[in-house]
This record gives sequence, structure tokens and C-alpha cells, in this order.
Amino acid sequence: MKKTAISVFASGRGSNFQAICEAINAKKLDAKVVSLISDQPDAQVIGLAKKFQIPCFVIPKKKSQSREEHESEILALLKIHAPHFIVLAGYMRVLSPLFLKAWYSERGYYRVTNIHPSLLPALPGQSAYAQAFNFGCKITGVTVHLLDECVDTGPICAQEAFEIADAKSILEIEQMGLKLEHRLYPETLSWILKEKFEIKMREGRTCVCKD
Ligand code: GRF
Repeated sequence: MKKTAISVFASGRGSNFQAICEAINAKKLDAKVVSLISDQPDAQVIGLAKKFQIPCFVIPKKKSQSREEHESEILALLKIHAPHFIVLAGYMRVLSPLFLKAWYSERGYYRVTNIHPSLLPALPGQSAYAQAFNFGCKITGVTVHLLDECVDTGPICAQEAFEIADAKSILEIEQMGLKLEHRLYPETLSWILKEKFEIKMREGRTCVCKD
């Protein structure tokens, strides 16, 4: 079966990008990263793209550009390698409906995935591990989801929780969370990218049902 072409979007450290590349190299994930897109010229992930020999494109948003103009620039570039899925891995921008439309599948979803460091819908937004620590949560977790037009609200594909009641710092929670992310994201991508699921309305709620 043909490998699914993906483009990873990342703005920072890139540990999830690395986990995805490693899963592909270990043949645990049947995909090919055709490009890495970053909006941050100094992002650590750029060095990782070089290491894994992934074509890397840095496209910062210019002050004069609207969000849609910036995204149009990215969309034009994506046409070169034509990924089937967009995989967000610490991409610090909210994508507009215009961008999502380009990845709409007739099967009723956008072919854009994200990993969020909490059990959504709890703790949306930035610094979710810090939020979990500051709220004194007893457990938190990780969510892999598809995107919709709002922020951190798209159809949930996979979630896993971990206990943080005894955690002494945000860093400790982040380390536990990242370890989980690096396993859960590639694992979940392995069936998302093959589109081995259906989006169904069940009891009035949207469910991602794995085949
Ligand atoms: C991760 O915690 C991810 O869940 C969130 O942003 C962070 C990115 O980390 N969306 P990294 O750049 O993959 O190391």
C-alpha cells in the first residue's frame, strides 16, 4: 500500500515531529513526511528536519499579511509536494476556515490532525500542562484530534490520561506528558492517515469511530 504523504507543521522544539519521523523509520507508521512547515525561522525543529532529510520551508507571517494571505502562501507551497494530510505538532497558529477547506474530505472531516496536551475539552489553549499544575488537577492527559473551525474543539480520535497528583513542578508534568505524546501521536496517526474511521453522529454527538 502506498505511504500516506503528510506535511508536518511545527513552530518550536519539534519533539513530536521527531517521534513521527522515528516511527516512520522504525516502520511503525506507514507515512512519508514530504515537508516540514515552520512559521518560526529560529525553531529547533528546523535542525531536526535537516537531520531527518525532510524538505523544510520556513514561512513567517509578515506584519503586512492577513492570516489568510499567510496561509495562501503556505497552500501554494504545499501544492509542490501535495500531502494528503496536514499534521500539526506544536504549530502555534490558528488555521482559518479558508485553509481547512483545502483539506476537506467528502467523508465529512478535514484531513488535518493535532495533538493537544490535555484531556479536551478540559484545558484548551496554550500551556495546558502548566494549567493542569496550577489548577491542582489530579489527572491530566493528551488528546489527538481532527481540526474543525474552532480552537481545540475538533472530533476526538484518541485520549490517554495520567496521574499528576504527586507532581512537584510543571516540568515534571510536561516530561510525563511528552513521553505519552511521542507514543500516542504516531500510534493514532497510523489509523487516521489510512482513513480507517468514520465520523458518526451518535446520541447527538460527533464520534470518530475506528473501523
Ligand atoms: C506539545 O506539548 C504538543 O502537545 C503541543 O505543543 C507541544 C509541542 O512540543 N501542541 P514539540 O514541539 O513537539 O516538542
